[in-house]
Amino acid sequence: MNKLQMDDAAQAAFVRITKRINLFASGLSTGLMEKILACVKLYAFEAGERVFRQGQPGDAFFAVLEGALKVSVREAFILSRKVASLKEGDIFGEMALLDGAPRSATVTCETACRLFMLRRDDFQAILKLNPEFSEQIKLIASDRFFEMTSGN
Ligand code: CMP
Repeated sequence: MNKLQMDDAAQAAFVRITKRINLFASGLSTGLMEKILACVKLYAFEAGERVFRQGQPGDAFFAVLEGALKVSVREAFILSRKVASLKEGDIFGEMALLDGAPRSATVTCETACRLFMLRRDDFQAILKLNPEFSEQIKLIASDRFFEMTSGN
């Protein structure tokens, strides 16, 4: 994983992603979006690189600027099951930050990826400042939890 510069184009892309999934977007002043942008970091990952592993503590929230990733859960000692794919514009890593539980799945890059990352403390501060964002993200997390536990 390599840190990249969060230039104007990357900032604009982050705003686009958050608007598309309606996160942070409504009721946000330009000032608050600027504060959020000041906290967001951009990283490059190689194909095959793991972003995090199931069972690790949750320390950050991610949004995909570019690339394809897989979400997999352990089935047995050495087996894992792919439960979802993630692509440009998707977010992940929200579940462990919301409930304080360990990571529910492993997320691995299937291609080279560029990922936005927001550290846990910044993510939680933003949740507090924006109840709509908080509701939206809880909905996404509960849909995913349902998918994962229903075996789809
Ligand atoms: P977290 O538990 O923090 O870490 C693993 C992440 O995988 C989880 O948050 C979600 O963001 C993501 N995830 C889990 N299940 C799904 C799913 N069904 N679809 C998309 N993403 C998922």
